[in-house]
Amino acid sequence: MDRKYLCSGIIVTLALALVAGCAGVNSLPGEENTPALTGDSIRLPEPRFESDLSVEEALRERRSVRVYAEVPPTLAEIGQILWAAQGITDERGYRTTPSAGALYPLEVYVVAGDLMGLPAGIYHYQPGEHILVRTAGGDHRAALQAAAVNQTPVGDAPATIVICAVPERTTVKYGERGMRYVYMEAGHASENVYIQAVAMDLATVVIGAFDDARIGEILNLPGNTTPLYIMPVGKQVPGGG
Ligand SMILES: Cc1cc2nc3c(=O)[nH]c(=O)nc-3n(C[C@H](O)[C@H](O)[C@H](O)COP(=O)(O)O)c2cc1C
Repeated sequence: MDRKYLCSGIIVTLALALVAGCAGVNSLPGEENTPALTGDSIRLPEPRFESDLSVEEALRERRSVRVYAEVPPTLAEIGQILWAAQGITDERGYRTTPSAGALYPLEVYVVAGDLMGLPAGIYHYQPGEHILVRTAGGDHRAALQAAAVNQTPVGDAPATIVICAVPERTTVKYGERGMRYVYMEAGHASENVYIQAVAMDLATVVIGAFDDARIGEILNLPGNTTPLYIMPVGKQVPGGG
């Protein structure tokens, strides 16, 4: 082969290897299986950073609440809840919740009935852009309730947050112990949701009793994604417990 072509071939191969190497650094294990930004995407209102309630008051008032007002939360309130769960708070990509190795295994979904500004459907929260991407249309709350040992808050709430994880993002670095970190992170995210909910007169409860496989089917979760916590969210019933 002509030496000139051999040299340019080597340069092209090296350049491609370099590009592939850089791409590898930026993509998380399992990331390729997260829903793509294709279907309907809904930009959430910017989160607010002030509240009438102190953190101490919110901690004191936090309770698991299983009955919700009929009037649904606004899109801004749902957006605020999602931001509390996984919102990005730093230009380096750090979030409202800590994450072992900053590997961020959690993926948050919303199963909604008709809300103001949000048609019934299943949505995936994408923290980078603070948007919801619709992955399915229609009201799936009754199916979700059935998959959660028929717990009525899941079907009654206007919207339900499902905190899921792609464990391999964490276990690839920490091995078996990474699983523990993933569960801990779901705890951090859910407590943030509780506290944020109190600050907005919303109500929620963590639900751990459900059939993983059925939830995976309803949400059409990628095979590497597992549901960890279900959190129905609604407005507090005035004077209710
Ligand atoms: C890991 C875990 C799983 C839970 N699962 C459920 C559940 O499936 N259904 C439910 O109604 N509450 C569930 N809860 C909520 C507890 O019942 C609740 O936190 C407890 O009664 C204490 O009440 P409080 O949260 O108001 O302080 C769960 C809580 C935790 C921490």
